[in-house]
Amino acid sequence: MSGTVLSQKPGPIGVFDSGYGGLTILRHMRKVMPEYDFLYFGDNARTPYGTRSFQVVYEYTLQCVTRLFEMGCHLVILACNTASAKALRTIQQCDLPRLDANRRVLGIIRPTVESLGEMTVSRHIGLLATPGTVKSLSYPLEIGKLFPDITVTSESCPIWVPLVETGNFMSDGADFFIRRHVESLLAKDPMIDTILLGCTHYPLLYDKIRKYVPENVTIVSQGRYVASSLRDYLNRHPEMDARCTRAGTCRYYTTESQDTFLPNASVFLEGKIEADTVTL
Ligand code: DGL
Repeated sequence: MSGTVLSQKPGPIGVFDSGYGGLTILRHMRKVMPEYDFLYFGDNARTPYGTRSFQVVYEYTLQCVTRLFEMGCHLVILACNTASAKALRTIQQCDLPRLDANRRVLGIIRPTVESLGEMTVSRHIGLLATPGTVKSLSYPLEIGKLFPDITVTSESCPIWVPLVETGNFMSDGADFFIRRHVESLLAKDPMIDTILLGCTHYPLLYDKIRKYVPENVTIVSQGRYVASSLRDYLNRHPEMDARCTRAGTCRYYTTESQDTFLPNASVFLEGKIEADTVTL
């Protein structure tokens, strides 16, 4: 940490992702909690995280979380499954006490898992995620704790995040990689009736994924479940709620150049935004 004294004034809710993916979560948060202020932070310059080691994902995530604290956030949501799987616990247990024990960092795996129990009839779920999230076993372990009767089958999709980050997610070439992983997942367990998109970038690929998934299989995106869980968290934690400002604003920051970030982010958000570059 740079040694900056953290402000105790209330501030926006920080939403972090390795790149554009967290925007799919932020959209739902702003819909459910329009009165709150948000600060989005995409580490686009170092994306993807999904193919990196535990240590690297942890170090990158900690740097970004620290910066969000310095920018005035008291509550930071890791809107990234890879960071939630690989960095959340260490940051909560080892870094928060040192940085500021009153600030909070929350992930998105637990709230997603909590919503899954009701969705599957066959009790066979398929997980599409980054290699990092799959390798961490976070989803099967969390699902096993809450719903021991559910079988989870995973498929890692290393190329999908780069397809989104480079703006190639609507291309014909994208179909090749999407079909390959969807078919591989379904071949591993034909009883799957629910597929979880366990990476915040993947909702952008939804239309293409849908083409290769049979109609009777439900595809689940996390955004609305994470958003309602955040709303619920703030209701249960009035002391944190009081430290979140409410003027309905959203500011965007990226570690990439604005010229690269803005056109892509505007597509995902279906509207014009402004963004600033942050140097870590
Ligand atoms: N969006 C991130 C997630 O939910 C992954 C991105 C990456 O590989 O950088 O896992």
